[in-house]
Amino acid sequence: MSFEADKQTVPETAPQPVIIRPSRDSDIGAMLAIYRRHIRRGIEEGVEDSGTPEPDDLRDRRKNFRNHRLPHLVATRGGEVVGYAYVVLFRKRPAYRFAVKHSIYVHHEHLGRGIGGSLLQELIDACAAAGFRQMIGYIDADNAASLAIHEKFGFARVGLLPGIAYRYGHWADTVMVQRSLGAGSTEPPPLLSLGR
Ligand SMILES: CC(C)(COP(=O)(O)OP(=O)(O)OC[C@H]1O[C@@H](n2cnc3c(N)ncnc32)[C@H](O)[C@@H]1OP(=O)(O)O)[C@@H](O)C(=O)NCCC(=O)NCCS
Repeated sequence: MSFEADKQTVPETAPQPVIIRPSRDSDIGAMLAIYRRHIRRGIEEGVEDSGTPEPDDLRDRRKNFRNHRLPHLVATRGGEVVGYAYVVLFRKRPAYRFAVKHSIYVHHEHLGRGIGGSLLQELIDACAAAGFRQMIGYIDADNAASLAIHEKFGFARVGLLPGIAYRYGHWADTVMVQRSLGAGSTEPPPLLSLGR
């Protein structure tokens, strides 16, 4: 059988599954590329434009995430990183150790195909499994896609910070969203939980 005939047996449009897994150091370049592209398009998408991290910053942050058991995930399709999502502690003071603040970014060529939803669901599940009780997000008020995905995944709008950001020549509002995890605030945390 010829090579050409073999090739025809493989459907060209076979959809590649999206795999969500913990990030690795080797993913950093791809994550930065996704982030920088969104920053460049910040006017349209309302993404923060401050403090673009360098590869070393991201590597250090990943180490920190591992030490504090903070979920840091990537989505891959066909071996390519097509999105990522992670949390940091909402505040460093001990009383806030059950609350995390998250970020999520999907590659601009892979938007609207369910990747953000898969990442956010996995992030929610990973944070709940790690014992966190609240997730917080800050979203530019013009970022319709982010507002919609958070509403879809059970985040409530809990605050509006008017005129909090100045970028590209105008003041922008930020919406604060929150979702409880597990028992939320209906039960005290287990003793000695989260190792801190
Ligand atoms: C927000 C973002 C993560 C969504 O990722 P995505 O993979 O495109 O989203 P999905 O395809 O999984 O869609 C999930 C839900 O998001 C919402 N959504 C996604 N794109 C949308 C759009 N352009 N307009 C309105 N709602 C949208 C919908 O509710 C959608 O659910 P539905 O398909 O049942 O309608 C993505 O747009 C992104 O990376 N944006 C730039 C970075 C950013 O703004 N991050 C958030 C900072 S707070």
